Amino acid sequence: MIQIGWKLILVMIFISQSAFAYFDLSTGAHRLASMNEISLADHPDFASVWHLVTVRYREDSGELRFTYANDIAWNAMKKMIPSYPDGAIFGKVGIKTEADPAFTSSKVPSSAKRFQLMVKDHVKYKDTNGWGYALFDGQGYLFDEDPKTSTQSCVACHRIVPQSDFVFSRPASLTLGDQSWTRISTAEAKVKFPFIERKWLSLNKRIRSEIEPNTPTAYSLQGELQKHAFSGTFDEVVPLLEEQTKRMHAPSYLEIDETHFTLVAPKNTSKLCATSELEVRILLVFNGRKIRDAAHCLKK
Ligand code: HEC
Repeated sequence: MIQIGWKLILVMIFISQSAFAYFDLSTGAHRLASMNEISLADHPDFASVWHLVTVRYREDSGELRFTYANDIAWNAMKKMIPSYPDGAIFGKVGIKTEADPAFTSSKVPSSAKRFQLMVKDHVKYKDTNGWGYALFDGQGYLFDEDPKTSTQSCVACHRIVPQSDFVFSRPASLTLGDQSWTRISTAEAKVKFPFIERKWLSLNKRIRSEIEPNTPTAYSLQGELQKHAFSGTFDEVVPLLEEQTKRMHAPSYLEIDETHFTLVAPKNTSKLCATSELEVRILLVFNGRKIRDAAHCLKK
């Protein structure tokens, strides 16, 4: 009986460790290279042979994102067809940046990379709105996450933009003459996330008191994204929380439990930002540890 009890505890420890491994780059035991039957080895050179759709830069994480489309996706996108045919594929490379010691105001790509793919097949992926999702580390292997949980998180967030067939990116005008495309922006997408106001009782008390000891309430992101969150969601969700924080001038957060959450909190007195800006603190807590604790300015 005692033995079974120990085994159970060990299994539980294993689950709680492995369920959130996106931030832990030191894993080596996992060698899975395929998610939802998609592997990066099928498209190893996508960044050099597909069309560059757009580039985004995340201020909060210092990450550059390059999005590419294969011919089928590219042609559909150019015609502004709201639904992508089977065979359309989008690939995204996220790469962290670091200061260039030779010229510090210019950031250079660092080695921390990850890859994401979206493959359209309306039959095979009918349960996930016709898209197969896959996420890989810099070597083309899966992160140490449950692929089912990661998939549900991808789907939950991409459902924000049904009007463009669940694709966020719009072509950036990087070449001469493509002006007409730039008018379409994802700003048209109305993000509807039910936030509920409540006392943030369950958040790690020490961290909560560090932020705004006198703030009685915060906005908690509920719904699909919270239900299916994996550690990657904590990072991706920051812009949504920022938007809410800006609107309500109150902290907002996505919480799985008290040791796993992302929080964006406004600062009432800012030393960093202009008066037309709001300084916010972004905190990512993972396994009880602060993975990110940074402040930056948002345009009001
Ligand atoms: C919390 C929101 C969120 C989650 C979760 C999320 N994405 Fe995205 N995804 C975005 C946004 C926003 C973009 C637009 C580009 C950017 O900002 O990086 C995007 C872009 C992409 C693109 C380029 C095509 C497009 O839609 O623009 C791919 C491919 C992609 N994501 C795959 C994935 C995969 C695979 C997962 C799950 C492992 C995932 N995404 C999870 C928000 C999310």
